[in-house]
Amino acid sequence: MAAPIRPRIPATQFLAAIAFVSAILRSGASDPPLTLDHYASSCPTVFENIRKEMEREVLSDPRSAALVVRLHFHDCFVQGCDGSVLLDDTVMLQGEKTASPNINSLKGFEIIDRIKSKIESDCPRIVSCADILTIAARDAVILVGGPYWDVPVGRKDSRSASYELANTNIPTPNQGLISVISKFLYLGLSITDTVALSGAHTIGMARCENFRARIYGDYELTSGGSPLSEVHLSKLKSACPAAGGGEDNIEPLDYATPYTFDNSYYHLLLNGEGLLNSDQELYSSILAIQTKKLVEQYAFDTGAFFRQFSDSMVKMGNLTNPDSFLQGEVRKNCRLINA
Ligand code: HEM
Repeated sequence: MAAPIRPRIPATQFLAAIAFVSAILRSGASDPPLTLDHYASSCPTVFENIRKEMEREVLSDPRSAALVVRLHFHDCFVQGCDGSVLLDDTVMLQGEKTASPNINSLKGFEIIDRIKSKIESDCPRIVSCADILTIAARDAVILVGGPYWDVPVGRKDSRSASYELANTNIPTPNQGLISVISKFLYLGLSITDTVALSGAHTIGMARCENFRARIYGDYELTSGGSPLSEVHLSKLKSACPAAGGGEDNIEPLDYATPYTFDNSYYHLLLNGEGLLNSDQELYSSILAIQTKKLVEQYAFDTGAFFRQFSDSMVKMGNLTNPDSFLQGEVRKNCRLINA
């Protein structure tokens, strides 16, 4: 018997539907009361102090910049940017640190602890951990060569975390393009935001378990087997054996300039050498119509990438947790809700 014919929704209509539903869901939320001068009189040194602390961190380990930028992203994608990602598990609270995108992977918590303790000594109980993380992420980008943007502040820290949302909202490397984009659209971020924010992979590292499928999958096909790519691919394969083992071996997301925030990530995608499946899909997926154009634009125009990255970081940083504004607090210790 012939299979029944089901109407199929084209990818573009599917994405438009998600964006529409997400807009409806979010339309009740009030604009975040974030301003540039929130701490102007209560803690005028906050920006300067965070910058100095981040300088120290990046100087002692250049990867610190990447750790902090990723922490901010994983914070904002779960209940908005409310410092929920920083909470430790306790008897009373299940945090987000053991959710699958974070466990054995998300790092940099000690950096935020050190900055917080400096800020607490100058301005006790004034500056939220969520704001510290947001400002530190901006400074991290600047310190490794990326753009400056103004950071609106006034976020509150949540008194809750969501292990479940950390598992569902944060995109994972082996998801398809549509699925990754849907996660951004669901939070009110656009396809342009998706491509620009993915440019954060111009810095930092990934572990073997997150790129094994890619290097034994279509890496050779997308990179066209050029001698240089072949050399790099065999390096990746020796760090990450097909048969397993070496799960935590790390390789740079952007092997050309791993510690510099530039647009070389997009060049990598043009060469078919993106390290994660989700990276390369932005350029090579058969559904990558709009995203491919953006990748090309950012590869050829650093200024366009920097401007869009800055705007998209502000937009992501403005994802708020309405509950935090009503019931939030300024934590004394970023790892624990106040007693
Ligand atoms: C588009 C969907 C995204 C996916 C699927 C994704 C996935 C990943 C994965 C799997 C890693 C490596 C983690 C590990 O192996 O332990 C990683 C690292 C990283 N991600 Fe993403 N990411 C995405 C978007 C973003 C965004 C929007 C940002 C920030 C704006 C970001 C910033 C980073 C940074 C800086 C690193 C390096 C961290 C380090 O050195 O430890 N990512 N990402």
